[in-house]
Amino acid sequence: MSVSLGINIDHVATLRNARGETEPEPVLAAAMAELGGADAITIHLREDRRHIRERDVMLIRGTSKLPLNLEMACIDEIVKIALQAKPNLCTLVPEKREELTTEGGLDAIEKFDVLERTVKTLMNSGIEVSIFVDPDIEQIRCCHKTGAKYIELHTGGYAASAVSHLTWEDDKPIRGNGELAKLILAAEFAQELGLTVNAGHGLNYQNTAEVARIRGINELNIGHSIIARAVFVGLVQAVKDMKEVINRCLAAT
Ligand code: PXP
Repeated sequence: MSVSLGINIDHVATLRNARGETEPEPVLAAAMAELGGADAITIHLREDRRHIRERDVMLIRGTSKLPLNLEMACIDEIVKIALQAKPNLCTLVPEKREELTTEGGLDAIEKFDVLERTVKTLMNSGIEVSIFVDPDIEQIRCCHKTGAKYIELHTGGYAASAVSHLTWEDDKPIRGNGELAKLILAAEFAQELGLTVNAGHGLNYQNTAEVARIRGINELNIGHSIIARAVFVGLVQAVKDMKEVINRCLAAT
């Protein structure tokens, strides 16, 4: 059993843009992530271009040997760029201008028509599509109906509860964590439908192992915690450390 690690390098572009400078260079971050053992690069081209820009998408696509996962909203302008860049995977996410980061899964029930249309357009051009969704059975059923072959389970709820719901048993802290159970059931249901299951958001060096252990998880997409550690230890080391967290827990199961 193996679980891939996709590194979200948006924060490198955020830092670059903060000073209106040309560094740090996201393309170099993709190369360093590869050196550290990353299995994929994830970038989010937002409508407001607050971090990743079109030029980053094209340069990373043209230079990185790793599979590229482009996170995007179902917006015509961004779909057009995706069709040109041809990433290996497009992950469809909700997007609000006022949010600091993606705040929840897509409402696949409410947005079914636009999702189905976007999935078809991208898949017709040879791009696989994933939908970022909360661990909710009806949402997952709807994602499957769009024709997408992948989902990414939103782990933000789990990550938030993993810090706040510690309980104690036999002098050991355990997580009385319904959120983890939701992820496990959602992953199982999605796989029964034939979907490939990725997961991400809010994962860090402390809470990732439990998600990596969920049966059948294909890939974890992690950004903030890895880039934060990279400030102190360098990106190659930070990626290696996360790979070790994942591989160690898989070896123990
Ligand atoms: N997956 C998706 C769909 C996201 O939008 C993000 C945040 O950009 C991530 C994963 C990574 O989240 P984090 O930065 O909290 O690791």
